[in-house]
Amino acid sequence: VFAPVLAAVLAYLVGSLSFAVIVSRAMGLHDPRSYGSGNPGATNVLRSGSKVAAVLTLLLDALKGLIPVLVVKTWGPQWGLGDGALALVALGAFVGHLFPVFFGFKGGKGVATALGVLLGISGWLGLIVLGIWLVVAFVSRYSSMAALLASLGAPVAYLILDGSLWSVETPLLVAIMVMAALLVWRHRENIGRLIRGEESQIGGGKKEKQ
Ligand code: G3P
Repeated sequence: VFAPVLAAVLAYLVGSLSFAVIVSRAMGLHDPRSYGSGNPGATNVLRSGSKVAAVLTLLLDALKGLIPVLVVKTWGPQWGLGDGALALVALGAFVGHLFPVFFGFKGGKGVATALGVLLGISGWLGLIVLGIWLVVAFVSRYSSMAALLASLGAPVAYLILDGSLWSVETPLLVAIMVMAALLVWRHRENIGRLIRGEESQIGGGKKEKQ
């Protein structure tokens, strides 16, 4: 019990590195929690006008999900860590992004970190989910709508890729479903804005903090 919990706590600490804030500070930009949607995430950093900062945030927030999962997937078996531990580590990194211990537990919505986690679980799974995000984002220009549809597609894609409902690796499926549910919940204000037609589109300029 000790090793999986320790691994999950370490992943949580890595996930707690809120790169939207760290990158913005390092580049001398405003704190992303003070403008736009107020969300410390790549989409909102893009509203600062710096594409470089947004891309760096996206990459680093994804890497902090990808690396812990890949480490446990690669070396976990020799430390006695199986799929249960892998699922805990995946959730640890994701929850760290949402509730970062280093930033007053006020984190982001988890899109980039979830993508990194999914890529770590399975390259194909990550690419399919990224594909859904890209298609929806390209067509609708809504980052949040793309994230919502991609997260709903993730458990479905996992089940299809796994090939058999009977041999399905339950801990990972549960982790993916919990991530999707948390991600949707974190987007509840975005969902309201989408319904009211008030959501800002990618490249659509700045919006007031709401
Ligand atoms: O990355 C989060 C995205 O889906 C929505 O972000 O800033 O528009 O609330 P934002």
